[in-house]
Amino acid sequence: MKTQTWAAALVALALPATLAAPMILAQEPVMAPHRAATSGEPVALDLVERGKYIVSTSGCHDCHTPFMMGPNGPEPDMSRALSGHPQDLLMPTPPVLPAGPWQIVVSGTATAHAGPWGVTYTANLTPDAETGLGKWTMQQFVDTIRTGRRLGRGREILPPMPIPVYRNLTDADLEAVFAYLQSIPAISNKVPDPIVAEEVLELEAPGETAEK
Ligand code: HEC
Repeated sequence: MKTQTWAAALVALALPATLAAPMILAQEPVMAPHRAATSGEPVALDLVERGKYIVSTSGCHDCHTPFMMGPNGPEPDMSRALSGHPQDLLMPTPPVLPAGPWQIVVSGTATAHAGPWGVTYTANLTPDAETGLGKWTMQQFVDTIRTGRRLGRGREILPPMPIPVYRNLTDADLEAVFAYLQSIPAISNKVPDPIVAEEVLELEAPGETAEK
């Protein structure tokens, strides 16, 4: 599918450093003992801790936490951690780029992206019931990442969400990620719908909207 190709190209060209980690982690069972860097003693990471570790090493904040300008340059605003594109930041029509290798534009918050697939806004991953993942089940989360479709049966998850990378995580790692996401503070933030060709959104499954 065309958008999948875009996602794959993005991952291959732009994001390899931040996104390589989960593929390596996927080789280990979730409860495997880890060696503490200092003592060499094995320490057990519980599910939420492991999820936090994966989220913080796999680039989720790079897109799902709004960036702000700090004293040392752009940094994620952790008071809005993983809450997605801010609802009050209305983005104007993206600039039309001249033909050539520049093809994607990104908001200063790094939460809105425009490219050949359309305009997409990063989702609210906090457990807010109305605007985040509060009503999602573990299985729906795993199915979403595994299939690249919302809830495993709805519309395609669009670029630049690196589905081609994260679908390689083990079930145990995806479950840890979801457990962590459900443990963080819920933030009410209604992310706008993407602006893409209608046929993409028509893939929305019956009942999908009601469940989110
Ligand atoms: C390069 C940017 C980027 C990175 C990195 C990223 N995401 Fe996303 N993510 C997005 C965008 C953009 C969307 C919305 C796409 C759409 O509207 O179809 C999204 C959507 C999602 C969704 C779907 C939510 C919904 O309500 O439909 C989930 C779940 C998700 N991301 C989880 C994660 C997790 C977990 C990580 C880290 C392991 C992560 N994302 C890293 C950009 C990113």
